[in-house]
Amino acid sequence: MPHSLSPLSALQKQTIVLIGLMGAGKSTIGRRLATRLNMPFVDADQEIETAAGMSISDIFERFGEAHFRDGERRVIARLIDGAPKVVATGGGAFMQEETRALILDRATAVWLDADLDVLAERVRRRDGRPLLKDKDPRTVLAELAAIRNPVYALAPIRVRSQPLPHDATVDAIIKALEDAA
Ligand code: S3P
Repeated sequence: MPHSLSPLSALQKQTIVLIGLMGAGKSTIGRRLATRLNMPFVDADQEIETAAGMSISDIFERFGEAHFRDGERRVIARLIDGAPKVVATGGGAFMQEETRALILDRATAVWLDADLDVLAERVRRRDGRPLLKDKDPRTVLAELAAIRNPVYALAPIRVRSQPLPHDATVDAIIKALEDAA
């Protein structure tokens, strides 16, 4: 008798990449999603910091955003090349044409979409985001949402990230992945 795959194992075959604005919960949710799917989790921003040996703020300050994007593109390409895993990306990664093409071609992109109020409240909890430095986070996030949301919408899966227990969002992602499989 053929061995039947459990429903989750079908989801473990391809890397899952979480995209969305700062504060959408990509790292927090990604980590929990990976645990549920029994897959490794990697935070692309952390990988960039490790590779550069400095914080994202320092990379922006010392070398500029273009340099950061270049490192980001290389790190995400390396992560997608490896074994299937859950990857949380920084909010701007999917806006880079080459990175976006790679993610759409070789991984399953999941857009974590949250309301501005939710994003603005969440980004207050952590410093170290150069695009928000000395600015009103809600204003910046609104500007970024106007530009980025139509591009994030190219992801085959969109899940609302609401102020609910994390498990509810993880459940919604797993269901959406199963429906799309
Ligand atoms: C950025 C988002 C950040 C980080 C960098 C730039 C962006 O990641 O990559 O500060 O362009 O939206 P998070 O989305 O994890 O905050």
